[in-house]
Amino acid sequence: MTAKVQGVVAAAKGAPVELTTVLVPDPGPGEALVRIQACGVCHTDLHYREGGIGDDFPYLLGHEAAGVVEAVGSDVTDVAPGDFVILNWRAVCGQCRACARGRPWYCFATHNASQKMTLEDGTPLSPALGIGAFVEKTLVAAGQCTKVNPEIRPEVAGLLGCGVMAGLGAALNTGGVSRGDTVAVIGCGGVGGGALLGAALAGARTIIAVDVDERKLDWARGFGATHVINSRQADPVASIRELTGGFGADVVIEAIGRPETYEQAFYARDLAGTVVLVGVPTPEMRLDMPLLDFFGRGGALKSSWYGDCLPSRDFPMLVDLHLQGRLPLEKFVSETIEVGQVEEAFAKMGRGEVLRSVVTF
Ligand code: APR
Ligand code: ZN
Ligand code: ZN
Repeated sequence: MTAKVQGVVAAAKGAPVELTTVLVPDPGPGEALVRIQACGVCHTDLHYREGGIGDDFPYLLGHEAAGVVEAVGSDVTDVAPGDFVILNWRAVCGQCRACARGRPWYCFATHNASQKMTLEDGTPLSPALGIGAFVEKTLVAAGQCTKVNPEIRPEVAGLLGCGVMAGLGAALNTGGVSRGDTVAVIGCGGVGGGALLGAALAGARTIIAVDVDERKLDWARGFGATHVINSRQADPVASIRELTGGFGADVVIEAIGRPETYEQAFYARDLAGTVVLVGVPTPEMRLDMPLLDFFGRGGALKSSWYGDCLPSRDFPMLVDLHLQGRLPLEKFVSETIEVGQVEEAFAKMGRGEVLRSVVTF
């Protein structure tokens, strides 16, 4: 029977989001119905509302979520009703050219639910990142559900579904940070904070956090930064070099997505070092740098999509590390809020007051 629930919908470009009745169909083949317990408020949700991602209004927002599977389609075997899951936007297909070459974390044909959730009048909703989780129940592809240890608090678990995972993976998967490395992270929001945690987990020796906001730098220390730089007060490239014997860091992670901070990351890196771009630029951004420096400085310039994560491999492992006290993911949860408070949370995010506001149900 179609479920009738309340969800946060962006009806038109720039309009404040509204709590609206959403109709959720029963799961068909390959689908799962999930009762959401927690969903973090991410920049991407705001980006959808502002028309920055597309024009497929109305959007059902929310995508950093955890919950319990309520029902599955007839052919679904990987998850079952009662399973505690984190939702992901990389349900790998197993057949595309990336999957076929054994690189499923790049999967180019990820799955979403085939049926549409709708408004009461039948208008189909576009779920944010193919999820849509500021809602009591959502319909996703079964592969978007990753079963993890249910002892973790849902508001902490859900964060692995997007931004924090992107940062962790930028350090662990894309950057390949390893024991003894020197690492710098430019931009220490939810994504950069995840990168700092990832660097600490991997055993980096020096972890330098760069931001323009003192609050973020305070939080960065809690994520394992050994040094912090306020780049309004000091030149970040010179400071990072100074803290790394004059050479630059082995891995520099850019977690903002701006040309000027990318350039800082590029020059703050040791010869043959690695730059990881995990911040997302906007279409008009351009970079003007000497091509010779790209050759002369060598190394690797990489981009990290969703932290190059493989949910089935990474989520259960990171949850276990958290439960063992080795990954303080709870530090990202600045506050828990009700589903009707997403618009206020966008404002707090804009003012830099929170790492994550998390809606709990
Ligand atoms: N130099 C240093 N730090 C900066 C600068 C700058 N010029 N400009 C902004 N920052 C800092 C902000 O103070 C903030 O702490 O970058 C951080 C960005 O963090 P958030 O705004 O919380 O964003 P986050 O959720 O971490 O996402 C970062 O990754 O996924 C993408 O779309 C997302 O592009 C965004 C990026
Ligand atoms: Zn694939
Ligand atoms: Zn997100």
